[in-house]
Amino acid sequence: MADSAQKEDQGRCTLNRREFLLYGGTAAVAVSTISLSLFSGSARARVVGYPRQWIARLSQLTDHQLLNFRYPNEQAQSFLVKMGGVQAGGGLGLEHDVVAFSYICTHQGGSLKGGYKAVGEHRVMGQCPLHLSTYDLTRHGIIVSGQAYQSLPQVVLELEGDDIYASGVMGLLHGYHDNLPSRGKP
Ligand code: FES
Repeated sequence: MADSAQKEDQGRCTLNRREFLLYGGTAAVAVSTISLSLFSGSARARVVGYPRQWIARLSQLTDHQLLNFRYPNEQAQSFLVKMGGVQAGGGLGLEHDVVAFSYICTHQGGSLKGGYKAVGEHRVMGQCPLHLSTYDLTRHGIIVSGQAYQSLPQVVLELEGDDIYASGVMGLLHGYHDNLPSRGKP
């Protein structure tokens, strides 16, 4: 393929894995909402998405100090952390080291509060006090060890100037069949 054609193709395919999952999920929600509206005879389709919520100012974060917040609803305990210059998938800032995740273990809902560890270049959450699951915060919360079989849900962050916003969640929060606040817990 000619160089110019390759560049054109690359320009069209700019979604990374995180964006693909986020937008894919949003599209699925939108489609299901539209379908329900049609079955119920409603004339208008309604698109449901994650709320956009202000979390913190980037300039005021201190390395390794966790900031607690709730997202995407008042029951969903989450944390944001600047990981001392270690780059992470989905990380914000010049060093791509600011990330946010759920505090709730995906195995059976153990609280991971107090489990953040920074050792060398490793940044993990865990061990979970119930069955010892540990998650890698630099790699979208994948499991390092333990009983869990799903990654720790990562809160999608956006940076606007100095302001950090939450705008989505990758992965299903423990105990939910749908992360969106309008659906709530089962
Ligand atoms: S609840 Fe966390 S490992 Fe079981």
